[in-house]
Amino acid sequence: MRPNPHPELEVTQLNWRVVKMLWPYLLEFKSRIIFAIICLVLTKVASVYLPFILKDIVDTLDTQQDNRVFLVPFGLVAAYGMVRLTVVLFAEIRDTLFGRVTERAIRRVGLKVFRHLHQLDLDFHLNRQTGGLSRDIDRGNSGVSFLMRFMVFNIVPTLIEIVMVITILWVNYGIWFAVITGTSIISYIAYSIYATEWRTRYIRAANKADSSSNTRAIDSLLNYETVKYFTNENHEAQAYDEQLSHWEKAKTQNRLSLFALNAGQAIIISLSITAMLGLAAYQVTYEQMTLGDFVLINAFMMQLFIPLNFLGFVYREIKNSLANIENMFGLLLKNPKIQDKENAKELSIDKGGIQFNNISFAYHKDRQILKNISFSIGAGQKVAVVGDSGSGKSTLVKLLFRFYDVNQGSISVDGQDIDQITQHSLRKNIGIVPQDTVLFNDTLFSNVHYGNPKASKDEVLKAIDMAHLSEFISSLPDGYNTQVGERGLKLSGGEKQRVAIARTILKNPAILVFDEATSSLDSHSEQAILNAIKEIAENRTSLVIAHRLSTIIDADNIIVLRQGEIIEQGNHQALLAQQGYYQKMWKLQQSS
Ligand SMILES: Nc1ncnc2c1ncn2[C@@H]1O[C@H](COP(=O)(O)OP(=O)(O)O)[C@@H](O)[C@H]1O
Ligand SMILES: [Mg+2]
Repeated sequence: MRPNPHPELEVTQLNWRVVKMLWPYLLEFKSRIIFAIICLVLTKVASVYLPFILKDIVDTLDTQQDNRVFLVPFGLVAAYGMVRLTVVLFAEIRDTLFGRVTERAIRRVGLKVFRHLHQLDLDFHLNRQTGGLSRDIDRGNSGVSFLMRFMVFNIVPTLIEIVMVITILWVNYGIWFAVITGTSIISYIAYSIYATEWRTRYIRAANKADSSSNTRAIDSLLNYETVKYFTNENHEAQAYDEQLSHWEKAKTQNRLSLFALNAGQAIIISLSITAMLGLAAYQVTYEQMTLGDFVLINAFMMQLFIPLNFLGFVYREIKNSLANIENMFGLLLKNPKIQDKENAKELSIDKGGIQFNNISFAYHKDRQILKNISFSIGAGQKVAVVGDSGSGKSTLVKLLFRFYDVNQGSISVDGQDIDQITQHSLRKNIGIVPQDTVLFNDTLFSNVHYGNPKASKDEVLKAIDMAHLSEFISSLPDGYNTQVGERGLKLSGGEKQRVAIARTILKNPAILVFDEATSSLDSHSEQAILNAIKEIAENRTSLVIAHRLSTIIDADNIIVLRQGEIIEQGNHQALLAQQGYYQKMWKLQQSS
């Protein structure tokens, strides 16, 4: 299945399932959450109380006869300051308390997703862009963070506050104030949601233009060398500028739509404030209300509309967050195609004999890769597989590691079917020097150490020595602390292969697999490596896939693979005597 590059574009409904999925992660810090909620309630109560103090101050100032008695208004002003401080303080405490809960949830979810990704099969990873995957996780995490922050501490409390204020207005000043506030808030919310939905397409267009101009720039910079080889700097700049101009245009439209949203909101706010204050002014004039009441009503309106100002933004972001979180949790719902059987045992390894029993395999059902392959590798033997490129040699290795399950037949190690034992115990006992070695962006030393993280420094150095890496390393200014670059790109192919060999030596498995392990070496280093391989393969079962036949003449058995079928097998002498395909390949290689 093709990954959807813009998953948020498809989800248009608010998705409460996500909240349910997140819930368990919140329960880890129950007491923190309770305290945070208490702070939240205190903040709201205090902030609803604030306008009342303001009213008292104004009324005191207004009605006071003796101007020299400053004590009463001063007390009230001080109280106003105190309550205001309390509001801010409790809000801060609440955020601090809850921040920890959010971060812990993100940590738990992040780890869970990471572990799960490693559990998914190779096929999943080959079909999926790693960059896109990490963006999904990133977005999911910020979604969690945003949702927690705004859902719990913005939307819900604002709604509570609205209800409290409307009730207070109704009880203290009669139904009309409540009606005006209620209507204006409902129309405000309705308009915000409507306008936000409407302008979502402009935001998306702007985001899309943003990421495609980014992708263009990154792709161009990644291809730095190619750009230089073809002197296409101007061409690249033009292409980038074209993307940027799309972005510029989209941004302009986006801004205009934001203007429409904000203007509409401002009109609603102004109308309702005017109506409220008009009504209040009327009542003050006819002495049904004090000046303080007028100020109180004004303060309440401000207090309500300021958080509502963010409503459009918060609404949109929450929707996005829910979609992003769901997308991330969606990864968790993916089942790995390769799974341990319920009662899978540990592989009990003895000498490491391997048997391929009449296996057939296809990556896609319309293209058979391996057909009825049967052969065995006796314990301690060295068996080679040779054949043209694309004949299915590396596929055999992937099947042995159980990255895929065979369609037919079975593979067994020391008499145990590999689909009956745990993948972990299987892979732990096989070492491989792969065709293309990819390294971690770390030092040479750490990359070798990776073969067995528990090994001592001396053991690592010994493995480096056995893989004939020491000479190369001593020529480096930083020695084995040299950084190998992303994916090991700062090393030559041969050097990477030797790192892979050293790693495998350190892992010290019962079974060894070499997949064209010496293919990128010159004849001189190849000989050295072959000797090293011979040393470490002594007394171990080994499967050697080779391109150059001269490297496997000593094999106990040689399997000749052609288009997924075994066409010949035997040792070197026997195969030459057969005068078949092997002999032809041999002659061809000898003459070149
Ligand atoms: N993950 C995959 N999905 C589909 N086809 C694949 C995959 N990996 C390899 N193939 C195809 O399977 C065939 C055998 O590949 P491979 O075993 O790597 O050959 P080789 O003998 O050169 O090691 C090739 O034609 C290759 O294109
Ligand atoms: Mg291969």
